[in-house]
Amino acid sequence: MLYHCGGVKMNVLVLGSGAREHAIGWKVANSSKVEKVFFAPGNGGTRLAGYENLGIGIKEHDRLLRFAMEHECLTIVGPEEPLAMGIVDLFKGNGLRILGPSRDAARLESSKVWAKEFMKRHGIPTAEFKVFDEPEAAKDYIARSKRDDVVVKADGLAAGKGVVVCSSKAEAYNAVDMIMKDRVFGDAGNRIVLEERLYGEEVSFICMSDGKRIIPLATSQDHKRVYDNDEGPNTGGMGAYSPNPIIDGKMHEWIMRNIMQKAIDGLRHDGVEFKGFLYAGLMLVGDKAYVLEFNVRLGDPETQVILPRLRSDLIYYVEHCIDGTLDQAEDMVWDERVAVCVVLASKGYPNAYETGKVITGLDDLNSMYSNGDHLVFHAGTKVTDDGRIVTDGGRVLSIVALGSDMKEAIEKVYSAVNRVHWEGMHYRRDIGKRALRYLLNR
Ligand code: AMP
Ligand code: GLY
Repeated sequence: MLYHCGGVKMNVLVLGSGAREHAIGWKVANSSKVEKVFFAPGNGGTRLAGYENLGIGIKEHDRLLRFAMEHECLTIVGPEEPLAMGIVDLFKGNGLRILGPSRDAARLESSKVWAKEFMKRHGIPTAEFKVFDEPEAAKDYIARSKRDDVVVKADGLAAGKGVVVCSSKAEAYNAVDMIMKDRVFGDAGNRIVLEERLYGEEVSFICMSDGKRIIPLATSQDHKRVYDNDEGPNTGGMGAYSPNPIIDGKMHEWIMRNIMQKAIDGLRHDGVEFKGFLYAGLMLVGDKAYVLEFNVRLGDPETQVILPRLRSDLIYYVEHCIDGTLDQAEDMVWDERVAVCVVLASKGYPNAYETGKVITGLDDLNSMYSNGDHLVFHAGTKVTDDGRIVTDGGRVLSIVALGSDMKEAIEKVYSAVNRVHWEGMHYRRDIGKRALRYLLNR
């Protein structure tokens, strides 16, 4: 480690290759406590920004461990898979500092059955449910149900695709067969949850915790469907904004008390340590909120709008979480401005997509918007040997703008989006519109 300004400077290893991870790396690189940022594996944008991309995948835990030990890294985990595989237990067992929940705590995301039973045990509001490990028994239950609308969920991790929201019994039978008989999600479909369908406003709520205290991050809103007006299939997220005006002060307090604190206390009570980011996908129904899902990590693209608004040093909170001293941490300071993110995707996404298309306009964007109001976080990009930036994934870029209000942030983000191009690029044109309507009609 290196000594600097009277303190020890650290190396940080960020696991993952999306725009969420690019945003995490960008944020921690701004910390006076950080010497160098490594990505495993990173993307074209993290390489261009001057961070070091390692040729190590997120599932190669032994190689990651060796690297982190050799370079004395503090590690921040982006996606859920390494957490569900137990990377935090492995790193901690070897004396390394890493932010994220243990494998046991990661079941909150890696098993829907475990998560639902946990919520029931601890009185955390969630939709009524039943668990099945036989397709015929599930279909029999659907046939006897008074309601036609039901949600069918595969138990295990399915890259965000294991949930089918049904409007008829026929759709539900098909979903059960697809998951349990056709096994489109493999072993993730060994068991399913049948859940009451809820109707309301869906919001994301993300906190940091050291296992005892929780600190809420700024509120945000994802846009999961691929097309405008929330049409088409679900994606990993096509855009986001922060703050989310739908969550007022009273609702914020309610969610903190009845959901987030209960979850952290419940885990501790069950003897499961949770340190890291806890993300609740919520449905607001009247003056209550119900948990649709827990994630044990930051959201993507929520991170791309939350971190640009965080004025405080993220590493300061990461260290307090790891050390279990979050009760001594100062409050987070947030930029009052609104952040909006538009995700630019490859032709075909969220199904099979094209890659290798040359991206143009990024230089123009960098030079025009060097005042810090605009940010570009890369996901599926790579740099070719001759220095061109080409597409290399489904979600390719997150374009972010900060504005004095929602309207200005939306205008700014789309004026930036208009400068970027590649063949087949698509994106939603209505990111933030719902918030704008809500603010106008309030
Ligand atoms: P999940 O992965 O559990 O968040 O589910 C993916 C999406 O399915 C959510 O973002 C919701 O849009 C929808 N969903 C999940 N559970 C329910 C439910 N009980 N009622 C209505 N929609 C749901
Ligand atoms: N934006 C949804 C997620 O990260 O799961």
